[in-house]
Amino acid sequence: MNKTSAPGFFITTLGCQMNEHDSEKIAGLLEAAGYVEVSEMAGAKFILFNTCCVRENPENKLYGRLGEVKRLKEADPGIIVAVCGCMVQQSVERDKLEQAYPYVDLIFGTHNLHRLPELLLKVEAGERVIEVWDEAREEAEGVPTKRADNLKAWVNITYGCDNFCSYCIVPYVRGRCRSRQLDQVLTEINDLVNQGFREVTLLGQNVNAFGKDLTPPVDFADLLAEVNKIPDLWRIRFTTSHPRDVNDKMIASLAELDKVCEHLHLPLQSGSTEILRRMNRGYSSDDYLRLVEKIKTAVPDISLTTDIIVGFPGETDEDFAETMRVVNEVKYDSAFTFVYSPRVGTPAAKMQNQVSEEVKKERIMHLVEVQKEISTKANQDYLGRIVEVLVEGPSKTDSKVLASRTRTNKLVHFPGSADLIGKLVEVKIIEATPWTLHGEVLTR
Ligand code: 5AD
Ligand code: SF4
Repeated sequence: MNKTSAPGFFITTLGCQMNEHDSEKIAGLLEAAGYVEVSEMAGAKFILFNTCCVRENPENKLYGRLGEVKRLKEADPGIIVAVCGCMVQQSVERDKLEQAYPYVDLIFGTHNLHRLPELLLKVEAGERVIEVWDEAREEAEGVPTKRADNLKAWVNITYGCDNFCSYCIVPYVRGRCRSRQLDQVLTEINDLVNQGFREVTLLGQNVNAFGKDLTPPVDFADLLAEVNKIPDLWRIRFTTSHPRDVNDKMIASLAELDKVCEHLHLPLQSGSTEILRRMNRGYSSDDYLRLVEKIKTAVPDISLTTDIIVGFPGETDEDFAETMRVVNEVKYDSAFTFVYSPRVGTPAAKMQNQVSEEVKKERIMHLVEVQKEISTKANQDYLGRIVEVLVEGPSKTDSKVLASRTRTNKLVHFPGSADLIGKLVEVKIIEATPWTLHGEVLTR
């Protein structure tokens, strides 16, 4: 709880890593404005929801949570309630919040979060403020950031997306793809390393689009090569890669650059070429499999993860069987699996032959079950192996057990003392579950 007299803030973040990182920036701005972060919503003076609209679920979550806030606000009308992020970029949701949720005092979007200090002053003076920009007018650099971790950091490299996959709302709420300047990215990472950070995850909806819009043009592989040169940085990760844009130069970077970790998140979405065409993904099932083959040949110990949607409009049993064929062939280390959720304003929402909820449910259950077995086997491959892990901190459930990650992004728990936190250590893997590995530290 907040023991100082400064007003407390509490942020709930829904959605992806991009949102998590935006919340770190918002927290930085709020601290600069004199607020302190508190661990519970009750007692906070500023309550914010950073929202997601990629599927219906996170949207429903927001409306559920706003009910709780209403009671707090009734008990203490001085509380400021704010909603920001992807959901409010959609005018339908914004209007709904504005009209049906009068106790929401502040609404701001994805393109103007850096304006929070000014907006906050108005709200503190008693005004209801709704400011959402339809597109990026200026890219905010140098926003103070209160990072959730002191070892690993997220770094934006591109904002927005130009791909317009037919099911996806992201290009409409995050705008067209814009790259940050290469030197600004490098300066940020150098600063992070000077503060003691040792791992960065480069963030973009499609990291492979990095640099196409810069002059002179650079590409993602060039960026990786530059980041790889930064002394005292140990590990480089990135997400997300669009399969269509993964080229030989990038695969060579994965294979050759020593700090670039052996993990690739490569969303498949569907294994059916016909569904992929209607998703506007720009590759066939065979293109995808050929790409995976190439990557596995270049980087034999690569860990592959993916996103898969089941129940896209018109998906037949045969289409779904194609997805299962690819899943069984690629053998992903893990997969995020989603039931297709129609998003108003996207082409897929208007397509005929929407799949019934019952069929979607059957398909996702089958996919989850098969993937769980594949993930278990992938983890069992680690039994007896000695791996280098970066120790992140105590495990969530047992303070005598440390949580760490392999370069392939596997979570490894092992008993050890707190002085190992922040270090690279060698661990022998002795147990595997579908989601975690257990090991013992090697004495040196
Ligand atoms: N329905 C279900 N899943 C979706 N995704 C994006 N849009 C939708 C949608 N309308 C999934 C994709 C994407 C991930 C972030 O979310 O798999 O890669
Ligand atoms: Fe959405 Fe496709 Fe862009 Fe990913 S690449 S954010 S799925 S439009």
